[in-house]
Amino acid sequence: MISSLRGMNDILSEDYERFTHFISVATKIAQRYGFHFIETPLLEETALFKRSVGEFSDIVGKEMYQFIDKGNNDVCLRPEGTAGVVRAFVQKKLDRAGGVHRFFYHGAMFRYERPQKGRLRQFHQFGIESFGEASVYEDASMIMMASDILNELGIGYRLQLNSLGCSECMPPYKENLVDFVTKHKDEICEDCTRRIATNPIRVLDCKAEKCQDIYKEAPKLLNSLCSSCESDFATLKDILKQNEIDFEIDTNLVRGLDYYSKTAFEFVSDNIGSQSAIAGGGRYDRLVEFLDGRPTPAVGFAMGIERLMELIVMPEVKKEGYYIGAMDDEAQDLVVKIAQKKRKSDIVILEYKTKNLKNHLKAADKANVKYCAVIGSDEIKNGTIWVKNLEDKTENAILRDSF
Ligand code: HAM
Repeated sequence: MISSLRGMNDILSEDYERFTHFISVATKIAQRYGFHFIETPLLEETALFKRSVGEFSDIVGKEMYQFIDKGNNDVCLRPEGTAGVVRAFVQKKLDRAGGVHRFFYHGAMFRYERPQKGRLRQFHQFGIESFGEASVYEDASMIMMASDILNELGIGYRLQLNSLGCSECMPPYKENLVDFVTKHKDEICEDCTRRIATNPIRVLDCKAEKCQDIYKEAPKLLNSLCSSCESDFATLKDILKQNEIDFEIDTNLVRGLDYYSKTAFEFVSDNIGSQSAIAGGGRYDRLVEFLDGRPTPAVGFAMGIERLMELIVMPEVKKEGYYIGAMDDEAQDLVVKIAQKKRKSDIVILEYKTKNLKNHLKAADKANVKYCAVIGSDEIKNGTIWVKNLEDKTENAILRDSF
C-alpha cells in the first residue's frame, strides 16, 4: 500500500466537516471586515522567500521544499502565504493605485520540519493581508478579526503582543543586544552563536532553557522604541483594552519571519500541546519595497487550520436534504428524474438499488438526511411519492408534481 508522505495528512470525513466549518466562519468574518479573496500559486521562485521571509530564517535556511524545475528555474513550494500575496500586489501594480487593499486567502503551505503533534510538513493556513493603511487602528482591527474568528469557533486563546520597532529604533537596539549576547558567547547554544552574525533578535525566542535564563537580563526592545513606535504601541494596547481583548506583553516575541516591524502578535492555545501557536502576524511596512514595489504600509496574520481543527466546538449537525429510492424496478427511472429536479434546490442522496421500505428507511437514517422519499408501484399508479420526515416522524403521500 502506498501511504501519504510523513507530515502530510488527508482531510476527510469528520475532519473535512471541521475544515469546511472553519473556512466558512473565517471567510464570513473576513468579508465583514471588508476583505476580498485572493489565490496565489503554490509554487514560486525561491528568491521570493529568500528576500521576504529572510535568508537566515529557519524557514528558508532549513525547511523549504526547494528544487530546480525542468526549465532550470530555482523554485519552491510556498512555506507561507504573505510573500506570494505581496508579489501579486506588486505585480498587479496595486502599489501604484493608492488606497487600501485588503485580501484573505486559504491554502496549503509546506515546511520540511520534523513532524510531531500539531507540526506538519503540509498544513493549511487562513491568512489576511492589508495594504496601504499605516494607522495602528488597522493592526487592532486585525487582532479583533482573529479574536472574532476564534470566539465564533468556541476556541479559547491567550494573545501575546510585542513591538519590534522600526528602521529608526531597531538597528541601535540590535547593536546593544549583540553586545550583550557576545559577552555571554561561551554560555549560549550553537544556534544562538550563529544568530549573532545572521539574525541577532532571533536569539530572544531560543527554546534552550540555559539561553532563556541568560536573556532574562538582555536589553528589552520595548524600552528602546522610538517615540512613534512607542505611541503606536500604547494606542494599540488602549484600543484592545477598550474592546475587551485581553493580551499579555511578551518582549521575547520576535516571530520566525524577518519581514516584521512594529506590531507583532501571536494567539496561543493551552489545550493542544507544545505546538501551541494557533495564529500569528504583525506589521510589515518594508516588505512591499523589498519586493520592488512602492513603499506601502502593510499588516496581516495567518491561522494554522489543522491546529484549530482540534479545538473547534462544532455546531450540532442538522439533518438536511432527501434520500430518494425505488421500491419496484419499474419506479427506478422515475426516481432518477425526481432526484434531478429536487437537486436544483436540495441535497439529494439517490439510491440506485430497488429495496423494500424498511431497508430504504434504514439507509436514509444512515445518510443523516431529513426526509426519506420512496416510490413503488402504488405511488406510480397514484401519481404520488411517499415521504417520511425523519425528525418528527410524520409520513405523507405527496402529489409528485408538487414535490
Ligand atoms: P507563522 O507564524 O509562520 O506566520 O504561521 C502562522 C500559523 O501557521 C502558526 O501560528 C501555526 O498555527 C501555523 N503553522 C505554522 N507552521 C506549521 C506547521 N508546520 N504545521 C502546522 N501548522 C503550522 C506566517 O506564516 C505569516 N505569513 C503570517 C502573517 C500573515 N504575517 C503577516 N501576514
